[in-house]
Amino acid sequence: MKNADFLTGITTSGTPHLGNYVGAIRPAVESSRNPDLTSYYFLADYHSLIKNHDPKKRKQSSLEIAAAWIALGLDHENCVFYRQSDIPEIPELTWILTCLTAKGLMNRAHAYKASVQENEEDGNKDPDKGITMGLFSYPILMAADILMFNARKVPVGKDQVQHLEMTRDIAARFNHLYKKLFILPEVVVDESSAVLSGLDGRKMSKSYNNFIPLFDTEKRLRKMIMKIQTNSLGPDEPKDPETCTLFSIYRAFATEDEAKTMKARYSKGIAWGTMKQELFEYINEILKQPRKAYDELVQNPGDIETILRAGALKAREFSGPFLDKIRTAVGIGIIG
Ligand code: TRP
Repeated sequence: MKNADFLTGITTSGTPHLGNYVGAIRPAVESSRNPDLTSYYFLADYHSLIKNHDPKKRKQSSLEIAAAWIALGLDHENCVFYRQSDIPEIPELTWILTCLTAKGLMNRAHAYKASVQENEEDGNKDPDKGITMGLFSYPILMAADILMFNARKVPVGKDQVQHLEMTRDIAARFNHLYKKLFILPEVVVDESSAVLSGLDGRKMSKSYNNFIPLFDTEKRLRKMIMKIQTNSLGPDEPKDPETCTLFSIYRAFATEDEAKTMKARYSKGIAWGTMKQELFEYINEILKQPRKAYDELVQNPGDIETILRAGALKAREFSGPFLDKIRTAVGIGIIG
């Protein structure tokens, strides 16, 4: 197995939603089909331990996310699709990296700082109240995910850019201390991939609980779309597509020409009810087939398991020998 041209992880928490599709799944599916690229995609189940302590939820989320990616056309034969916890080399590398990462670097991580700030604002005496070592040091686990496969490019959302900078820092430190084994990975923030608004107009996200699940029933998908907030403009009044959640979702799925036509209809005035119905029909048409495939996969988790295990075997073809080199470089292991 070759090292990764592209690599990205998906934390197994929550259920996949429309925002995940246009932001992460759709571009990943595209590169998974490119025969000239080696893409690694994995379920970051160790990352999900940080915030969620419910085993059932974690398992369900892994199942749903894996099923969604496969149902939406991920070419799991051409790319490397696996579960983080099936790769024991990752936690091993995590420890090696932990021992050369400055604590001060982790002190500066946004996620950790935000939790400290929350404690301070709540007037807690202990600024670290409720903060686990998992949350504190998770950028090191993420660095190990990436460096384990010497990934060149890592597509992520804006909130993850700092973690990539840290990964480069950690890799450079290893290269300097021991041996130049790691490529410094580049972050790829795809500005063109859409950021969807959710039911309340804020960014669609599981943390705001304003998301539309990808694979609910047709009936519930329609109901969700009908719930999207709009303003009180009447049917014939001109409307602004740029500030409209319905349009932001439509545009993320439609072709450029279709979006243009829809814009024109907004300026002439389109009734919210009509727009909602059309948006539902449009998205439903796209999701119909994948929904069927998804339901079938979720009913047969053994099939997903087989795919993930085959993926882990491929991934370990790279991580096994590479970890041996890393161990040798740090002087761990065989002495005779
Ligand atoms: N932390 C990432 C997120 O929350 C998920 C992730 C884990 C990841 N390991 C990774 C992304 C490695 C890219 C590369 O979105």
